[in-house]
Amino acid sequence: MKDVLILGAASDIAKAVAYKFAGEGCNVVLAARNAARLTETATDIKIRHQVEATTAEFDALDFAGHAAFYEAIKPKPDVVVLVFGYLGDQKKAQIDFAEAEQIIDTNYTGAVSILNIVANEFERRRAGTIIGISSVAGDRGRGSNYIYGSAKAALTAYLSGLRNRLAKSNVQVITVKPGFVRTKMTQGLPLPGPVTAKPAQVADDVFKAYRKRTDQVYSLWMWRYLMLIIRNIPEPIFKKMSL
Ligand SMILES: NC(=O)c1ccc[n+]([C@@H]2O[C@H](COP(=O)([O-])OP(=O)(O)OC[C@H]3O[C@@H](n4cnc5c(N)ncnc54)[C@H](OP(=O)(O)O)[C@@H]3O)[C@@H](O)[C@H]2O)c1
Repeated sequence: MKDVLILGAASDIAKAVAYKFAGEGCNVVLAARNAARLTETATDIKIRHQVEATTAEFDALDFAGHAAFYEAIKPKPDVVVLVFGYLGDQKKAQIDFAEAEQIIDTNYTGAVSILNIVANEFERRRAGTIIGISSVAGDRGRGSNYIYGSAKAALTAYLSGLRNRLAKSNVQVITVKPGFVRTKMTQGLPLPGPVTAKPAQVADDVFKAYRKRTDQVYSLWMWRYLMLIIRNIPEPIFKKMSL
């Protein structure tokens, strides 16, 4: 039975991932801020899937606390799924550095801080899987969300480098790039139906990538082709578009 640690477990995508892995017979640790609010979810997972499900207090921005947090996780996880993220307010971030900093630190610095610790432990054990939820927003900077997009681009590059480093140590690193997903993060935003995923669909894609040892996956799948087009729009045209 595998042990799965989910970072940012109060997220809608994270909860779907937790149920998916538990449904496949894995024990889960739900790590989040104010973890007490996840007690009911953990109990439900335990009863529904007959696995161990516990909660742990975790703040992505408490960099100094990450080593102690990971040290306290017992048994050590076979799989770590990094889901936390912060979309933030692009317009505010353009004039208020505190907002920009929170976007960058939540999506990137916090990920580096905790994954460095996980990666070193997995490397020593020569085992484990790290799954990072990045975003298609990191594939090309757009005027409407380039601060979030650039933090996700950095996360994507970090995961790519980590994969390259840890492949030699039998550690798998998977980058997941969701397009639009209907969650708390996108509440109130106009989302185009056919290319918008439900959290459970993203969770299925995450699990499939884990099973097949895929390095990088778009969710939904068509985002791979949409982003291929978007990445290839020539800059003179791209800069005139309002995206
Ligand atoms: N929804 C989309 O369209 C979409 C598209 C591409 C990528 N993504 C990515 O998918 C991931 C999950 O997002 P979601 O859509 O499921 O949205 P969500 O429900 O809003 O989840 C985001 C989670 O990140 C957590 N978080 C933020 N700052 C944190 C911190 N300092 N420490 C610990 N946790 C923190 C939040 O915790 P609290 O509950 O405590 O606020 C929240 O549970 C994110 O990385 C997001 O960037 C989402």
